[in-house]
Amino acid sequence: MRLFHSRVARVAGSTLAAATLVSTHVGAAAPAHRSALAGLAGPRGGPAADPLRTLAARVGLRIGTAVSTDSLRQDRAYRRVTAAQFSSVTPENAMKWESVEPTRGTYTWDDADRLVDFARANRQVVRGHTLVWHSQLPGWLTSREWSAAELREILRTHITDQVSHFAGRVRAWDVVNEAFEEDGRLRDSIWLRALGPGYLADAFRWAHEADPDARLYYNDYNIEGVGPKSDAVYDLVARLRADGVPVEGVGMQTHLDTQLPFPTRMRQNLQRFADLGLDVAVTEADVRITLPVDPTEQLAQEAAYTRALQVCLAVRRCVSYTVWGFGDAYSWVPDAFACQGSATLYDEQLRPKAPYFALRRTLQLAAGGRRTAGGA
Ligand code: G3I
Repeated sequence: MRLFHSRVARVAGSTLAAATLVSTHVGAAAPAHRSALAGLAGPRGGPAADPLRTLAARVGLRIGTAVSTDSLRQDRAYRRVTAAQFSSVTPENAMKWESVEPTRGTYTWDDADRLVDFARANRQVVRGHTLVWHSQLPGWLTSREWSAAELREILRTHITDQVSHFAGRVRAWDVVNEAFEEDGRLRDSIWLRALGPGYLADAFRWAHEADPDARLYYNDYNIEGVGPKSDAVYDLVARLRADGVPVEGVGMQTHLDTQLPFPTRMRQNLQRFADLGLDVAVTEADVRITLPVDPTEQLAQEAAYTRALQVCLAVRRCVSYTVWGFGDAYSWVPDAFACQGSATLYDEQLRPKAPYFALRRTLQLAAGGRRTAGGA
């Protein structure tokens, strides 16, 4: 507890210093930046100095990444960075319903199990992602009509089997993902249509029954700032908690864009969820840039990554800061947004970029600027 309080005080006092550091770091000092890279880098796979996870541990924070299980299997440098830099991992796709049950009743846990084993071997926690979503559902589920009773049983079985399979090995679950529209209405999904809004409480109850020790989250995008969507999520989780439903955290995905404003009053927003007795987490951070990259956009990107981390550090119940992948070659952004990319902490050759160093500095400042000895 003391650790968290000192973390808050130091971050509040160092915000300005961090901002100054960030801007001088890129703007004034290309040579310094290059020498920092040279000193830290070594082979593809990243820096040898204190990794993010070591620095984050000093301020009581988990630093995480989404992981592509294909890359983990095939790419040694990718494995090295994943293990060295991060203390939490989230399967980018390997625990989604279409991945784990492509044929009804036949589970394919292998990829996800490998990631969980990797995490255990590297003293990382696992964020399970995700149990109830409208997307990446298996074809057998979406290709025909079901009665409400059938669909409810299918969902209950899915949640129970998946959470039971990973019980004791997954620290937190994104139980429900992206259930709201931007205006705060519940999203028109297969679940809402058949089961009504009660599916939300049921999902959390079923997950809790299958693993009472897992931390259960609601997770969404564009809820980082105060607005109609985060208001709706706030109302939902407040009501669920009042009804005794075991929701224990809210995940702010934090997919940002340098061309868009930073989320409105993000710290106050996270704090109001924390004040309900919930954990909060940054669960999928990235900051996309309109290509080609220019120095102004790079600065804006660094600032956005840094501000989101500073907010998390300033809210005592913000337990983790997870980036949605760490290499531009592996990022979902270019596939999803025409002419945008360069959204992650590492370049296409897995060399750390300016936002990586900005996060390191922010964590160092939060810990009081102490030099650290390395080793996660
Ligand atoms: O599995 C098929 C594979 O069989 C095929 O060969 C390949 C060819 O492109 O496609 C594979 O499926 C892709 C899948 O990722 C697994 O790689 C899909 O096309 C692709 O659309 C899918 O994208 C994922 C996306 O969720 C789906 O909505 C991204 O990798 C993943 O980063 C993204 O993650 C989401 C979070 O779960 C929720 N929040 C938003 C975030 C970004 O969209």
